[in-house]
Amino acid sequence: MTTLKMELPTATYDITVGRGALALAGSLFNLNRRTLVVTDSGVPAEYAEAVAESAAEAEILVLESGEATKSLDGYATVLRTMSEFGMDRGDCVVAVGGGVVGDLAGFAASSYMRGVDFYNVPTTLLSQLDSSIGGKTAINLDGIKNIVGAFYQPRGVIIDPTVLKTLPARHIAAGLAEAVKMSLTSDRDLFAIFEECESPLDRVEDIIIRSLKIKMEIVRADEREGGLRKLLNFGHTLGHGIEASANGALLHGECVALGMLPMCSPELRARLITVLKKLSLPTEYAGDMNAALALMSHDKKCKGDSVDAVFVTDVGEAKIERIPLSTLSERIRRVFP
Ligand SMILES: NC(=O)c1ccc[n+]([C@@H]2O[C@H](COP(=O)([O-])OP(=O)(O)OC[C@H]3O[C@@H](n4cnc5c(N)ncnc54)[C@H](O)[C@@H]3O)[C@@H](O)[C@H]2O)c1
Repeated sequence: MTTLKMELPTATYDITVGRGALALAGSLFNLNRRTLVVTDSGVPAEYAEAVAESAAEAEILVLESGEATKSLDGYATVLRTMSEFGMDRGDCVVAVGGGVVGDLAGFAASSYMRGVDFYNVPTTLLSQLDSSIGGKTAINLDGIKNIVGAFYQPRGVIIDPTVLKTLPARHIAAGLAEAVKMSLTSDRDLFAIFEECESPLDRVEDIIIRSLKIKMEIVRADEREGGLRKLLNFGHTLGHGIEASANGALLHGECVALGMLPMCSPELRARLITVLKKLSLPTEYAGDMNAALALMSHDKKCKGDSVDAVFVTDVGEAKIERIPLSTLSERIRRVFP
């Protein structure tokens, strides 16, 4: 078992990583109170049940799986369930699921009675190595992703890689895309795992811990995304445009994989393509790139006509540069003609 300690001005919490960690929920979290366990219909029920069984008084809320649940309706359902369960300020919420459940349950916890304790048990690779830490919670509104939310840190996080055994291979690959992203901006040794290991997934625990450490360091330096945290957006500006234009055909991580390609030097792009192919991630986009570029320009992170773009010239050599959207589009067009 590995314990990482996130220390922020607003909160300090343990992130426990290890095979079998799920069984420790009762000792690692304070569940000696009313506990709402929020999960979704795609997550095997046994994971939420394991947490609920460790609590003094638990209820399990099973939401419909999918991004559409991260909505005002989904948010209202969680709040209503908390109220009907009779929860008060001293009770807690535990998310057991991927980024959808974590973002939604975290946001509900941040606002119910002005904030109750929140714990996260991420069960997708993306949520295990990225979204479960850092405190960003959100829902979507009128088709705009993550437009309503709060910075709200969890009280504790349990990451048990054994739950990945039930996760479809495509979701595993999509999670690895975020780890590749972090390796390119910040960790040569992590990128070496992807480049040199025949089967990087054999090193999944190592990949999770290294990715978490990178994210922890960035969040510690810049909790509210004033500067350095923008590094985590590497590949996301175009990625979000592709994701919106693909209408659910591509997973978030697959879009990030494509979004990183124009933002690398040509030499690094060639190496990245080899890695993405090894991980069964896309390197070409068959959809409408004009639509993706138009949607990219409407992204909430694009202020006016310019955007903070993250470029990586060599592994671990990232820079954030404010550039006109038109310049970014031209650059993307050179890679995806
Ligand atoms: N808060 C952040 O910092 C942050 C960062 C990145 C992404 N996100 C958000 O995360 C969301 C995407 O998260 P995701 O990729 O985890 O998707 P997801 O939560 O939709 O999960 C993907 C699918 O896997 C299923 N699933 C979950 N765990 C499983 C398991 N162990 N076995 C089998 N099936 C399982 C789910 O039911 C779902 O159908 C997006 O909404 C995105 O905006 C948030």
